[in-house]
Amino acid sequence: MDERYMRLALQLAETARGQTSPNPLVGAVVVKDGEVVGFGAHLKAGEPHAEVHALRMAGAKAEGATVYVTLEPCSHYGRTPPCADLLIEKKVKRVVVATTDPNPLVAGKGIEKLRRAGIDVTVGVLKEEADVLNEMFFHYISTKTPYVTLKYAMSLDGKIATKTGESKWITSEEARRDVHRERKQHDAIVVGVGTILADNPSLTVRFGHEGKQPIRVVLDTHLRTPLQANIVTDNMAPTWIVVGHHVTEDQMKPYEQTGVQFIRMNEHTIHIPSLLRELGKRNVMSIFVEGGAHVHGSFLSSCSVQQVIAYVAPTLIGGNEAPSAIGGEGFGRMMDALRLQVKHVEMIGSDIKIVAKG
Ligand SMILES: NC(=O)c1ccc[n+]([C@@H]2O[C@H](COP(=O)([O-])OP(=O)(O)OC[C@H]3O[C@@H](n4cnc5c(N)ncnc54)[C@H](OP(=O)(O)O)[C@@H]3O)[C@@H](O)[C@H]2O)c1
Repeated sequence: MDERYMRLALQLAETARGQTSPNPLVGAVVVKDGEVVGFGAHLKAGEPHAEVHALRMAGAKAEGATVYVTLEPCSHYGRTPPCADLLIEKKVKRVVVATTDPNPLVAGKGIEKLRRAGIDVTVGVLKEEADVLNEMFFHYISTKTPYVTLKYAMSLDGKIATKTGESKWITSEEARRDVHRERKQHDAIVVGVGTILADNPSLTVRFGHEGKQPIRVVLDTHLRTPLQANIVTDNMAPTWIVVGHHVTEDQMKPYEQTGVQFIRMNEHTIHIPSLLRELGKRNVMSIFVEGGAHVHGSFLSSCSVQQVIAYVAPTLIGGNEAPSAIGGEGFGRMMDALRLQVKHVEMIGSDIKIVAKG
């Protein structure tokens, strides 16, 4: 029975994917005498936690009930009061937790508080699923840097463009729509200035999406992004341009007038680990790196890759000069290659989507 209700709580949590950052996804279910009397999910940072919604729905029936929650209830005052205190106040009898919260402000303290108040607490029901649900949050909390997904669309021979730089379109429309679903689940989309110059992309979530747009981040050491680029002029989403230390205020001003923000690095080049620390400080919990080959190469060589999403089209491009998905130096020895595990394979339209994780 515990697993059944926890599965429901996990499903509730999942419904808010892409909208809770920098907070985790959390679902809660209140059960009394074999009946579900309340449920809820955390929907947005700053808004009530899942337990609050579920207990509110349960009303007086919360007394003596069992509460299933996908993540350890918080024990500290953040933007909302501690959920552990609310569970105690509502006199629930038992709390079942899927996984503990690695956030140093919580980290077992929520569970301890409940137990000290005499509440029976069970921990670890569907833990694996709950850990996967919040892997981006857990990575961010423990490293203070965003979770990195590399994404590319490639031909069957591993090319992301032709030798002349054309990449529209390698994959089918269905696969390209799927990219929008994946973008939505990340806080920011990262590309190199090479991709801006070659494709002038919009880098927004489209196809009926009306919610928050991910931030568009361009790695552009010398500020080569044209002032007429879509990401500068369209006002569809925030745009951050990352530049080297040598770029001057005067150079940046015309972009700032259109709403673009700058991250000026301390060095003349953009060092990926420093960039990730900088994005982490700005509450960016996850990034979707959409190329091109040079930028992918830099993420790989700095070992900053948690997940790869590859769309593979049954097309052959060929040629030594056509870029492959990941450029840069590459590894010289097989033993140094980054080994991932395939987590998901799916046919989308005429293409194959592969999700692999470290
Ligand atoms: N099929 C796909 O999924 C896909 C996706 C994206 C792009 N593409 C294709 O790929 C091509 C563009 O790729 P690209 O490799 O030439 O360009 P890119 O990776 O988009 O951009 C590379 C440029 O970014 C700048 N940069 C700044 N910091 C960097 C860092 N730490 N590491 C790497 N680059 C950094 C560098 O220019 P500065 O030195 O001036 O800063 C560098 O030349 C286009 O043909 C495009 O159509 C295909």
